Amino acid sequence: MSAYKIAAVPGDGIGVEVIAAGVEVLQALSKKSGFELGFKHFDWNSDNYLKNGYYIPEGGLEELKTFDAIFFGAVGALNVADHISLWGLRLPICQGFDQYANVRPARVLPGVKSPLLNGDQIDWVVVRENSEGEYSGNGGRVHRGLPEEVATEVSVFTRAGVERIHRFAFELARSRPRKHLTLVTKSNAQRHGMVLWDEIFYEVAKDFPDVRIDKELVDAVTTRMVLKPSTLDVIVATNLHADILSDLAAALSGSLGIAPTANLNPSRRFPSMFEPIHGSAFDITGKGVANPIATFWTAAMMLEHLGEPAAAKQLMSAIEAVTESGLQTPDLGGKATTRQVTDAVIALINR
Ligand code: NAI
Ligand code: MG
Repeated sequence: MSAYKIAAVPGDGIGVEVIAAGVEVLQALSKKSGFELGFKHFDWNSDNYLKNGYYIPEGGLEELKTFDAIFFGAVGALNVADHISLWGLRLPICQGFDQYANVRPARVLPGVKSPLLNGDQIDWVVVRENSEGEYSGNGGRVHRGLPEEVATEVSVFTRAGVERIHRFAFELARSRPRKHLTLVTKSNAQRHGMVLWDEIFYEVAKDFPDVRIDKELVDAVTTRMVLKPSTLDVIVATNLHADILSDLAAALSGSLGIAPTANLNPSRRFPSMFEPIHGSAFDITGKGVANPIATFWTAAMMLEHLGEPAAAKQLMSAIEAVTESGLQTPDLGGKATTRQVTDAVIALINR
């Protein structure tokens, strides 16, 4: 029997609620599907940061490397600055484990209402470069607090980094029925890094003659996502651009509460990390109404990655049956609680 070691890092806010729900669902699935999931919980969060002065204890990342996958909630608290929490917990894992491909599917699940008239045409995967670009952490501040203060935030694009994300996106596009990849940059205004992105895209395209390609500037693609959703399939974009576009994709397909993501280290040298797109959601923390669907869909992506496609498919079918039944949390216009949605998915798994 296959056995997988999963590191659960719930983090803060509703991360704690949705990861607990996700672990329950995964345990129900593993019992039914004949593989073992061993979870270890890590209490790396903002409360402990405030107590101890760190998110990840010494040796923590080394320990994390021994797991098959990381199941992550969210990090961010009202009493810790966001750049401290993000750089304290999530980014050291993404960057330290070279999880350079951030994969973000968007689709309107059955029974879910898109705010778009033609929302049923959404079936996208946003591929986000996840290791460099605008979030490389390169920059600094001098003359703090003085009128002469200067801050720089330097985007870093390397040929190796850009080429590997393009290759990843082409492979993914090739595996989908429409085999269509849209390059999104801002190479009119940003004439160095973005032009490199464009050039390498067309070089890599030569190796994928079966993939249909086109190109869009990042501002223009937002209008295309809203007005002509069916003309997009896979989108490849930089760390910042794809971060923004994938939140838009989530909202257009119903709610941030359903959108999943995988931070992949495609070489499998390090474990990959699976998380809902959303954050800690201060406004609904502790109310028991967080939508767990994003986390369940994320769990399905994790199972796929671990090599359990049948269980992943079973989980997606259960998720879709539940959304279709109308049992939905308030973010989708319903009245259901996290508990009710979780129980309904587990009941379908156990049927
Ligand atoms: P957010 O995603 O936490 O919330 C935005 C809005 O979406 C809120 O109204 C929230 O209630 C709603 N929402 C999000 N997830 C939901 C769910 N599962 N069910 C129902 N409603 C849901 O984004 P925000 O407000 O920008 O950030 C809050 C904190 O989370 C900040 O500290 C931020 O830095 C952090 N954050 C962390 C992320 C991560 O760990 N990957 C990602 C995004 C934000
Ligand atoms: Mg984001």
